[in-house]
Amino acid sequence: MTKVSVIGAGNVGATCAEYIAQRRIASEVVILDIKENFAEGKALDLMQTASLNGFNTRISGSTNDYSKTAGSDVVVVTSGIPRKPGMTREELIGINAGIVKTVTENVLKHSPNAVIIIVSNPMDTMTYLALKGSKIPKNRIIGMGGALDSARFNCYLSQALNAPASDVQGVVIGGHGDTTMIPLTRLATHNGVPVSQSLDADTLKKIAADTMVGGATLTGMLGTSAWYAPGAAVATIVDSILNDQKKLIPCSVLLEGEYGQSDICMGVPVIIGKNGWEKIVDFNLNDEEKALFAKSADAVRSMNNVLSTVTPA
Ligand code: NAI
Ligand code: 2OP
Repeated sequence: MTKVSVIGAGNVGATCAEYIAQRRIASEVVILDIKENFAEGKALDLMQTASLNGFNTRISGSTNDYSKTAGSDVVVVTSGIPRKPGMTREELIGINAGIVKTVTENVLKHSPNAVIIIVSNPMDTMTYLALKGSKIPKNRIIGMGGALDSARFNCYLSQALNAPASDVQGVVIGGHGDTTMIPLTRLATHNGVPVSQSLDADTLKKIAADTMVGGATLTGMLGTSAWYAPGAAVATIVDSILNDQKKLIPCSVLLEGEYGQSDICMGVPVIIGKNGWEKIVDFNLNDEEKALFAKSADAVRSMNNVLSTVTPA
């Protein structure tokens, strides 16, 4: 029996619950939301796809009753609000920090051994907050950003290569933001062959730039942020945890000297298994990539510093 709880039944939360069921990753999924009956409705709708999509995962919903999430192996936190027109970064961080803090406390009361995946934005800062607030072992707090950004990178690479996305291996590290993420073009391969052998420098530059604004592009098109690829990225991390797959996935984790940074959560390649993130893998960045990583850390750190100036709502 494996149990996953998803906090926030919105676009990303419900989609990730759907992928977890469809891919038969867990035997039980609980979706929880603060909006009356919203999670229950999403769960019921999803359960009505079970005979059509051929899964046995039991999906249920809860309006803010954390006892329903008790004994979860993994908890995914997607609760939060998007930035609205006129809202300052401080206001957004204040509101989402309040939500993530309360949610994490409630989750841990009922599932003290769970691995927690943070999705809510600004994700690297929320991951840092969840880690500092909860004081649980660092390996059990994982921020999801690099898995999504790498999937977007692979999508653009595969289109340029005219190859299936499954044949492309690209990794994005750094902060999960338009200007802070670092698509590692030098290390991207087409089944082991460096992509630079097939794609010229200008094409690779454009792919990296498109990847970096990947989230913003979709927000512009959809009027809200994306959910299919984010939901699928979370499901992939959950799969690697519950099935102890030891996949190498870029995730936001606490750095203690690795990649030259300390006291910060940001995206680096990690091995994901039953204990959460189990090991940070050193990609031996060159000087240019190291400088980009340091610049990205500065930006993430300045976002983290806002935390000390706001009172979580
Ligand atoms: P959404 O607005 O569709 O869903 C958020 C849900 O959270 C809503 O249903 C809301 O009622 C619920 N919620 C708010 N406060 C809550 C609380 N205290 N307890 C329980 N539920 C609560 O938003 P969406 O599109 O699902 O995005 C969720 C978050 O994930 C946002 O912060 C978004 O920016 C972020 N995001 C992060 C990505 C990443 O790669 N890290 C990718 C996509 C979205
Ligand atoms: C995304 O990258 C906005 O974090 C969200 O789609």
